[in-house]
Amino acid sequence: MPAPDKVTNITSLQTENRVFKPSKEFSSRAHVKSLAHYRKLYNESIKSPDKFWGKQAREELVWFKPWKKVLQWKAPFAKWFVGGQLNVSYNCLDRHLNTPTANKAALIWEGEPAGAGIPGEERTLTYKQLHHEVCKFANVLKRNGLKKGDRVIIYMPMVPEAAIAMLACTRIGVIHSVVFGGFSAQSVADRIFDCQARLVITTDGGYRRGAVVPLKKNVDEALTIKDAQGNSLTKTIEKVIVHRRANNDVRIEEGRDVWWHREMEQVDANCPAEKMDSEAPLFILYTSGSTGKPKGILHTTGGYLLGAKLTTKYIFDLQETDVYWCTADIGWVTGHSYVVYGPLANGATSFMYEGAPNHPEPDRFWRLIAKYGITVLYTAPTAIRAFMKWGVEWPRKHDLTSLRLLGSVGEPINPEAWIWYHEVVGGKRCPIVDTWWQTETGSIMISPLPGATPTKPGTATLPFFGIVPEIVDDQGKTLPKNSGGKLVIRKPWPSMLRGIWGDMQRYKDTYWSEVPGSYFTGDGCRTDKDGYFWIVGRIDDVLNVAGHRIGTAEVESALVSNQKVAEAAVVGRPDDLKGQALVAFVTVKTGVVADQNLRDELRNHVGKEIGPVAKPDDIRFAEALPKTRSGKIMRRLLKQIASGAEIKGDTTTLEDLTVLTKLGSSEE
Ligand code: PRX
Repeated sequence: MPAPDKVTNITSLQTENRVFKPSKEFSSRAHVKSLAHYRKLYNESIKSPDKFWGKQAREELVWFKPWKKVLQWKAPFAKWFVGGQLNVSYNCLDRHLNTPTANKAALIWEGEPAGAGIPGEERTLTYKQLHHEVCKFANVLKRNGLKKGDRVIIYMPMVPEAAIAMLACTRIGVIHSVVFGGFSAQSVADRIFDCQARLVITTDGGYRRGAVVPLKKNVDEALTIKDAQGNSLTKTIEKVIVHRRANNDVRIEEGRDVWWHREMEQVDANCPAEKMDSEAPLFILYTSGSTGKPKGILHTTGGYLLGAKLTTKYIFDLQETDVYWCTADIGWVTGHSYVVYGPLANGATSFMYEGAPNHPEPDRFWRLIAKYGITVLYTAPTAIRAFMKWGVEWPRKHDLTSLRLLGSVGEPINPEAWIWYHEVVGGKRCPIVDTWWQTETGSIMISPLPGATPTKPGTATLPFFGIVPEIVDDQGKTLPKNSGGKLVIRKPWPSMLRGIWGDMQRYKDTYWSEVPGSYFTGDGCRTDKDGYFWIVGRIDDVLNVAGHRIGTAEVESALVSNQKVAEAAVVGRPDDLKGQALVAFVTVKTGVVADQNLRDELRNHVGKEIGPVAKPDDIRFAEALPKTRSGKIMRRLLKQIASGAEIKGDTTTLEDLTVLTKLGSSEE
């Protein structure tokens, strides 16, 4: 739990006071046209939540059976739309079939650009075509023995089949857990074990920067991994379905592995959508916490879909003709809610791309925007900062006038990046929605509404309908406007997590015990005189590296799992590009030579244990780590050392002051 000093130390008292009002032109066409209009709707949603959410659920979603009760709340357990039945894939696909939307593009996809051996593909799937594929693949899942409530791992690159697989699971009530394609075999095995999955859906390989990422090979390896006692972590896996993408060599294990395309030849497209209870589990998504083991965040059907649909509609102000592009990978929650479920539930056109933003050249995004006439772009500050570094000449080469709205997510956006985004990408005409939310919240919680909310660079501004965020002190007392503290959410909301898979005690401890009765976000935040929320960043032992959430404990346990390491402590330091960088302080076992080779070895070791995103940026060898007399590692000190700051504060409890002098640099 955060030490009190972390909260009171929130000194990010930004001096930013530029205000950007939505243009009359934008507002006049928006769903919500003024701040007064927003406030009216917001107040109604807070005053009578049952009435508000009931009305939204009735109007926005198609139900097979109406609910009896909007909310059943026995803190910290919420049930939304109790007794109601619906289906997510029905709401994303079937409901559009008897409307003109049937022939509209649901997904437009562009693969990694053509290059050595890479074909450079493009595909468009209309709602009708996507429905056809999803129904067929749902039948494939059934054919392979899956039924309602079973868990499936999806480990794929950004190809349309990833979205098809997700939707097919929801069609028959199978719970998916998407694992980011950049994660390692070990991470795949850990997640299979945790949710006891029966099947893996993967791809022979995916493309990134002209190279093939061998996903099937990683799955093969995952399926051989054993725990410390020699027991298989993955014995629940019966089948692996392999989609062919990169044509790289893969091993097919007879009886276990089947090809996607062959299976699709065996089934028809007749697959009625299963009637699912509103509270039926929909997906599990693993995310880092402050202990070594990632948490399986559980989302359920009705509430999640309502949150994803409503926020997409209002925050991205969706219009019939939008070509909407959220650049997140489907391995993260942003990809779930804003590449797949939110846009499709709204009948919008969602654009998906495979590969990197700077391959073959740093104008990949701008080229795609011009080519497809993208109207709404939703990306992360870390990407924006990289674009700034690569230079304005790249966006200036392309016609970006199709854009009308920009979004930001994943970490605080620094005002310089905000202004660059606004001027260079948005041509000063596009509002920016800086959206704050989390894997746990399922959908956006704090954000401007683009036609209504005046924005200021660096703040996510005001809460979405029905959301009650507050800033509290260490005693959990609400603080007035213009103060800093912990960010909590006071009332339940439909798309909130329903728990941690298999560990409800951890759910209670992590989110509901810091400030009893309220959801603790793990973020520090301050409000300004207008009541705008300025997120400062995590105040637990979670870091935000290039928009990816990484638990320090997870990286530490990966490091100490290397034979040569005695002890490790991982902290963050500010980084211009990534927001935060990972610095590891490592002590080695007697006789081990601590040199550059070991540094490389340890970085690769962490890459193998977790995935390349978790590789420390900096590894510093130390003879000892600074500890209190009671043996606790003094992280506050390490953080100061890592960021090159002068050592401040009380070091009187430090066991051995001399260790401090030896921690200064990563050079031998
Ligand atoms: O610290 C906040 C930061 O990202 C965390 C959630 O990470 P994750 O669950 O991976 O979800 C990322 C995408 C929703 C939060 O606790 N964060 C997210 N959005 C913002 C942000 N910090 C500041 N401003 C944001 N707009």
